[in-house]
Amino acid sequence: MTEHVKLTQDGAVQEIVFARPDKKNALSNAMYRAATEALNTAQKNPAIRVVLFAAEGDAFTAGNDLADFASAAAGKADLAAHDFIEALGSADKPIVAAVPGLAVGVGTTMLLHCDLVYLAEGAKLSTPFVNLALVPEAASSMLLPARIGHARAFAMFALGESISAAEAFSLGLANKVLPKDEVLPAARQAAKTLTTRPLGAIVATKKLMRDKDRILARMDEESAVFAQRLQTDEAREAFKAFAERRQPDFMKLAS
Ligand code: COA
Repeated sequence: MTEHVKLTQDGAVQEIVFARPDKKNALSNAMYRAATEALNTAQKNPAIRVVLFAAEGDAFTAGNDLADFASAAAGKADLAAHDFIEALGSADKPIVAAVPGLAVGVGTTMLLHCDLVYLAEGAKLSTPFVNLALVPEAASSMLLPARIGHARAFAMFALGESISAAEAFSLGLANKVLPKDEVLPAARQAAKTLTTRPLGAIVATKKLMRDKDRILARMDEESAVFAQRLQTDEAREAFKAFAERRQPDFMKLAS
């Protein structure tokens, strides 16, 4: 258990709230485990019809905790991110996201698995995997280009370009852009409305809209490359640079 993920049930909605605002809600292994368990339990619990992700503070999440990446790179710990990503890819019940601000890495890629997305006006989405000498995850190497085109997706992955909430909306990545304090109420209202719809029809619709087998297969492919990349000198330099609050210098490393 961790106090950094808060779980509340509101009617038939399971809320999963990232609650580590002093670290921009960076997702530690403990947080991934708590969120994964909540997501998987919600799938099995007949009393739950919708899952809602939200966050405390001004960020949705700054992505994977980079200290956990560094530990995994040093062979000291495993990463719990894959199980979370797989749970998202496998989820049959609808998922709603309330994004109050910054969404980095998995913070953005997990939105590709959410069925309704509400963004605060100041929110920014980014997937700077290559800056960390890593590769995309959560099937985003397949889903993001499919949603926004190869060129935009490549710029997000390889140049680390972020997109604003307004751009995300116009690219079809979000349903609404709202003032920050209206985001959670709007997401909650949408989730509540979904609970009144016939769940069987919703699950069948979601199933038709997503190729789950391909998504899960791509997640496995990405994970294998991701695990290799974590062991590279490039990745070690990236994590060391973040801890030392400096820019990484990849030019000094051989390819
Ligand atoms: N992992 C671990 N800690 C993180 C983190 C992460 N992914 N992102 C932010 N934090 C921590 C910072 O180390 C800092 O901790 P401290 O107060 O103990 O020094 C705190 O959260 C606040 O972050 P800070 O960098 O001071 O805030 P900012 O507003 O200047 O910048 C970000 C916010 C998110 C742009 C910046 O923190 C960042 O780039 N984080 C890394 C994002 C990332 O690469 N994620 C992985 C993607 S795959």
